[in-house]
Amino acid sequence: DDSLYKAMKKAGRSFIGTALTIRNETREGEIIKQEFNSFTPENSMKWESTEPSRNNFTFEDADRYAAYAKKNNLQIHCHNLVWHSQLPEWVSNGGFDNKTLISIMENHIKTLVTRYKSVCTRWDVVNEALNDNGTYRSSVWYDTIGEAFLPIAFRLANKYDNKAKLFYNDYNLEYNDNKTVAAKNIVKLIKSYGVKINGVGYQAHLASEVTPTAPGPAPDQKTLEAALHATADEGVDVVYTEIDVRMNTPATAEKLAVQAATYERIAASCLAVKRCIGMTVWGISDKYSWIPGVFTGEGAALIWDENYNKKPAYNGFLEGI
Ligand code: XIL
Repeated sequence: DDSLYKAMKKAGRSFIGTALTIRNETREGEIIKQEFNSFTPENSMKWESTEPSRNNFTFEDADRYAAYAKKNNLQIHCHNLVWHSQLPEWVSNGGFDNKTLISIMENHIKTLVTRYKSVCTRWDVVNEALNDNGTYRSSVWYDTIGEAFLPIAFRLANKYDNKAKLFYNDYNLEYNDNKTVAAKNIVKLIKSYGVKINGVGYQAHLASEVTPTAPGPAPDQKTLEAALHATADEGVDVVYTEIDVRMNTPATAEKLAVQAATYERIAASCLAVKRCIGMTVWGISDKYSWIPGVFTGEGAALIWDENYNKKPAYNGFLEGI
């Protein structure tokens, strides 16, 4: 019987994961048990969920995910520590000076990383610091601290948990263009401070056809491999962290076949690169995918349909492993 993570382990890699929102859907628990050995909490560890006001930490929700991992013997890709989005106003509009903002960052990182020490297999330390053209994104972090916010965040994460694997994570790194080069430069920057970075997460929010919001259909396999190599060749692991392959809805049999081929080459590109240790899909069923809510008119992006039936994309993904 098929199992994504067992196939991945047979191939000598570490994990296949899913984004997880714990909800009342028995099929999800069954599918996780059969197919996955890792998950990423979809929202529960983000700043707005864990420190909604200054130094007031709320862990009821995040703790359920830590317990879920322990109970089911799953890896957790913890997500995330420093990001411009889902960041409460008290941070983004607080008007803090450099020194104060760094102390706020330290308090947040220290509290989360310490609480989930020996629970988090990996941490996304910094999420989405780049614009699509490869320049730094304007954010409270960059605008106040400058690019040093990256090495500072990684240094602090390592200070409070020196075992978790520390990742830089971003989207549209799969095209092997200026943004990919910028991610490689982030790896070099962090290392130039004498600070540890273990990996780069390629979100892989991709599409199987041209859509209003996708730069184009997902890159061909050679491009995907070259994009992974761009950072892996700097001596770090690489992971596809948030895979989904959206299309203009409604789906047709023909479109689902193209999507299956896309999933297959994403998986195959990971397997072709030694340092690609795992892949996470951004949810189980199309029923709960974030895509239709954010990209109007697009969807059907995951590998199980709204009724938890395997789509052609499931087989494509498995084939690629
Ligand atoms: C998304 C979640 O899936 C949604 O539930 C939430 O409303 C918004 O965030 N990049 C990331 C993820 O790093 O955290 C985002 O997750 C998707 C884009």
